[in-house]
Amino acid sequence: MNYDNIMQLALERGFYFPSCEIYADAQAGFWEYGPAGASMKSKFLELWRRELVRRDGMLEIDGSQIMSQSVFEASGHLASFADPIIRCKNCSSTFRADRLIFEVSKIEIPESADLADFDKVISEKNIRCSKCKGEFDKARKFNMMFKVEIGPEGEPAYLRPETCQSIFVDFPRLFKTMRGKLPLGIAQIGKSFRNEISPRQSLLRLREFYQAEIEVFCNPNKLNDLERFSEIQDTIIRIQIDDEVKPMSCKQAVESGAIPNKFVAYYLGILTEFYEKTGIDVTKSRFRRLGEKEKAFYATVAFDFEVQTTIGWLELVACNYRSDYDLTSHANKSKEKFEVLDDEQKVLPHVFEISMGIDRSLYTILEHCLREEKENDRVVLSVKPYLAPVHVGVLSLVKKDGLKEKTDEIHLKLKRKYDAFLDHSGAIGRRYRRLDEVGAPFAITVDHQTLQDDTVTLRSRDTMEQQRIKITDIDSILSKSISFP
Ligand code: GLY
Repeated sequence: MNYDNIMQLALERGFYFPSCEIYADAQAGFWEYGPAGASMKSKFLELWRRELVRRDGMLEIDGSQIMSQSVFEASGHLASFADPIIRCKNCSSTFRADRLIFEVSKIEIPESADLADFDKVISEKNIRCSKCKGEFDKARKFNMMFKVEIGPEGEPAYLRPETCQSIFVDFPRLFKTMRGKLPLGIAQIGKSFRNEISPRQSLLRLREFYQAEIEVFCNPNKLNDLERFSEIQDTIIRIQIDDEVKPMSCKQAVESGAIPNKFVAYYLGILTEFYEKTGIDVTKSRFRRLGEKEKAFYATVAFDFEVQTTIGWLELVACNYRSDYDLTSHANKSKEKFEVLDDEQKVLPHVFEISMGIDRSLYTILEHCLREEKENDRVVLSVKPYLAPVHVGVLSLVKKDGLKEKTDEIHLKLKRKYDAFLDHSGAIGRRYRRLDEVGAPFAITVDHQTLQDDTVTLRSRDTMEQQRIKITDIDSILSKSISFP
């Protein structure tokens, strides 16, 4: 199923929809999660916690979204977190230079290229404003942070453009108070904010978006000493090499030099294992090493985890080796000490980052799991049961003859443990179709026989099979199928 199918599902079944949509001045790039989207997001994040944070013994924090100017002076975002833009001299429309050039001429120029590179192509290819055909001014940089004013004096501060800055700033306290030991992962889920020039494609390029970021602090002299590498050495990861995506084990990836060391390979391995469990088809994924001009300004080596969708390869995770860039910058600016002891030696840790886009990941799960079954006249969201927005529909065949009351009684028992959706009205077939679209792995139907023998029909979403089960068995069947693997 394609982007338009997902959009329709999202709007009609409460996954997501535009923010402030009843007003004409609603801004692009802001979307809300409805009940189905919010439910799936919280389950996705719980899986992330299990498979990455708890598996690796990381610490999770929850930092501020507004941070002081000093943070971004130190981090380099005030100076360097900028997109190349071009403005039409005639109608003043503004575009991202790299995107417009690609759309018109298919020439790819990395966003961090020199401004002169954009001007050159615009002039050579005679690229004009797509709205009025006017000429463009010279390309310039536009800083993507949102500035805010604090208190009556309007002290400048910024909405964070990446969640990880609080992890860096908090590192000395966390390492000390939590009795940290290298390597140490610190994780955070939260919103980040970027003043994108052209937000687009709903969840795929937002101005306010969710990140799940992990910063692993390590001793740079021990990048091949990681004992837990053995856990994932045989895990297959897919690496883009020249024009080909090559599947190989983590061990082969390190031995062949495709991945620089065991430390990085370990995290790419557990990340792949995590995505396998989300239901994304990882045979359509790749790690792509970014070129010098594509990397973010703080990264020395960067791999994007990308997944193929109907609108092309989507970057879901940026894996950046940030070296000591952040800790050195914050140490210099704040005069705080960031060195720690490792085997009784003082070291300034390096950082490897696994920066996940939550919204894009959820979109990709929807796209990989939604299918149309023409023969059964239905659209079904075959998500993993543990990520399903609704675990079970609880339906009465008809409302009369005491069936409504019996159904309510069953729903009451289930709803504190499961996401159980009660539905009394409409044709039963149509009610099943709606549950299929929202990905509910099970539906329970109460009928007249229920009143005789305390049994219900259990319908499975994927096979559409129905079986008669005892009410007393519902809990054990659901809990077995719905629990995390
Ligand atoms: N922290 C990396 C990023 O936001 O892309």
